[in-house]
Amino acid sequence: MENTIDQICTEALREIETAKSKDSLNAISVKYLGRKGIVTQFLRNISKLPSEERPKAGEKANEIKKILEKAFEETANRLYSQSPEAHDFVDVSLPGRSALPGSLHPITQITRQICDIFIRMGFDIAEGPEIESDYYNFEALNIPKYHPARDMQDTFYVSDNIVLRTHTSPVQVRVMEKCKPPVKVIAPGKVYRSDSDITHTPMFHQVEGLMVGENISFGNLKGILTNFVHLMFDEKTSLRFRPSFFPFTEPSAEVDMLCVMCRGNGCRICSQTGWIEVLGAGMVHPAVFENVGYDTTKITGFAFGIGIERITMLKYGIDDTRKFFENDFRFLRQF
Ligand code: PHE
Repeated sequence: MENTIDQICTEALREIETAKSKDSLNAISVKYLGRKGIVTQFLRNISKLPSEERPKAGEKANEIKKILEKAFEETANRLYSQSPEAHDFVDVSLPGRSALPGSLHPITQITRQICDIFIRMGFDIAEGPEIESDYYNFEALNIPKYHPARDMQDTFYVSDNIVLRTHTSPVQVRVMEKCKPPVKVIAPGKVYRSDSDITHTPMFHQVEGLMVGENISFGNLKGILTNFVHLMFDEKTSLRFRPSFFPFTEPSAEVDMLCVMCRGNGCRICSQTGWIEVLGAGMVHPAVFENVGYDTTKITGFAFGIGIERITMLKYGIDDTRKFFENDFRFLRQF
């Protein structure tokens, strides 16, 4: 009796091992372990044995049943792992690899916010080239060649007459050449100066503003700029106008904003003054109007240039301008 079951086992294991497919393995499983299978029959027949042989034969048969079941399982796994479908298998329970979502650069975000505010006040958006002629960048703005005012801006010269624009003010001239007054535009964009430290990068961003027409006064300039900082920051952020000089505006002013960090008490950010310079502005110089053919007896207007990096730094509490352009993910991801 024992011999027979051992033989059955050996024969079954040999067949299992040589099974070539899932189907043939199933057939072998039915042949041995199915309801009418050889091992099943054998187990049934144990009851017909003399009672003293029964326990041993039963034990043996169950042991062999387990051995075969294990062999079936292992072979089924092996056949599966060799099958083509195993290689297309996607384990849906694994955590996914997510794509890094992109986002707008903080300078782009703030530029858009600034534009939105001025659009609400009725301004149009204008654009001009970054590679600019000496005429538009300087001469039309009342800065003649060899005039000491050129030293205010460390210029990148492409050739004798071509520069990387040092400010967005040339867009004023380009707009006025094309449009008759009244004109109400802002011009955001990149500007370039040969300058590099914590507060200066060789490329930075400005928004130029220009409002020209009959009866436009310094009061309008103050109103528009005050409204702008109130909307950009809050109503408590007041402005301070300091007399200054730009060749293309007269009178000219440098405009400071109450320090958003210390609210005027004095801190590291505002160098203990309580104020932070954010823009240059003034009434458009008659020489500029003459260059674009406007009638200086009828037309007045103001212009301003806002430093976008400065506004962004104050808005987000960033202390080093260079961080904007190093493209460090740890920095950029925060916006
Ligand atoms: N263009 C000036 C600068 O970059 C700023 C400015 C613009 C001043 C318009 C007055 C009017 O420094």
